[in-house]
Amino acid sequence: MAHLIVTLPGDGIGPEIMPPTLELLRRLGDFEFEEHLFGGASIDAHGTALTDETLAACRRSDAVLLAAVGGPKWDTTDPHKPRPEQGLLGLRRGLGLYANLRPVKPLPALYDASPLRRERIEGTDLLVVRELTGGIYFGEKTRTETSASDLCSYTSEEIERIARTAFEAARSKVSSVDKANVLETSRLWRQVVSELHAREFPQIELEHVLVDNAAMQLVASPRHFDTILTENMFGDILSDEAAMITGSIGMLPSASLGSDGPGMFEPVHGSAPDIAGQGVANPLAMFLSAAMLLRHGLSLASEATAVESAVERALDAGLRTPDLGGGDGTERAAKAVLENL
Ligand code: IPM
Ligand code: MG
Repeated sequence: MAHLIVTLPGDGIGPEIMPPTLELLRRLGDFEFEEHLFGGASIDAHGTALTDETLAACRRSDAVLLAAVGGPKWDTTDPHKPRPEQGLLGLRRGLGLYANLRPVKPLPALYDASPLRRERIEGTDLLVVRELTGGIYFGEKTRTETSASDLCSYTSEEIERIARTAFEAARSKVSSVDKANVLETSRLWRQVVSELHAREFPQIELEHVLVDNAAMQLVASPRHFDTILTENMFGDILSDEAAMITGSIGMLPSASLGSDGPGMFEPVHGSAPDIAGQGVANPLAMFLSAAMLLRHGLSLASEATAVESAVERALDAGLRTPDLGGGDGTERAAKAVLENL
């Protein structure tokens, strides 16, 4: 039976990078695609970023492929107006996707596209494991005319399950990132991670790194890291920083997984409203997200590898989108990858 993939093109460059990705997937197997409006596009049509129908469709699927949400059209500071990002958070929460995997591995062809010097980034191969359904993103929020608050809370259960994901994914070392010198949630985090490590993963090296120091080490010596384990907001910030090691945030894929049910796969970059509609968006992070969907979502490892090596070969052959300092548009990029598949 064909695998059912729910596709959510969303906003901005999303509708430009989704079609070539489906074309790529069609070459690799028998997939059924079911498209739904999401984010700003869904707000325009239905008044909400994520409808119950779309969430139900995602739950029924084998995997969800999301491009991007958001844009200036829906930016608002009014707490009563719907925002596209609520759709993303609703989907993460609604599907129980607590584990966000963001691999960062600069390709040799792009060593000189990074703002960091080649000697510094060469050989970097790290994974950010970000907790995705807890912390300050989902704690109680308050707002009056003159004050506002966002509560950051974690239970030991939430910490332990994401820590387990990181220890299982690590080859040799987990760097657990927190702010234990200031935050109570971080002190619980550190304790739970240490206990799990001692009990179940003593063969993996564990270090605790304060988030400000981790931000520095990430650009000073990215090779130091194997697997970075961190909470929701620190992971959001560090993964954008880590993206620059690969030359462009247009290169970074991600997988969001729960304990059962479908996973969701999306590029780390956003909807890039500044370049939307021009046909110049880099589709490679989206292709690499489709590869993660194949590997983690559908257990199609060799198909995933085929996509990854096609991307690598296209770059070796000179493919460069504008974000990588070149002049190839979305269509040219897609064609180059398909030719190398
Ligand atoms: C990400 C994004 C989202 C996040 C936004 C769009 C809500 O930045 O996936 O990293 O903060 O999680
Ligand atoms: Mg982010």
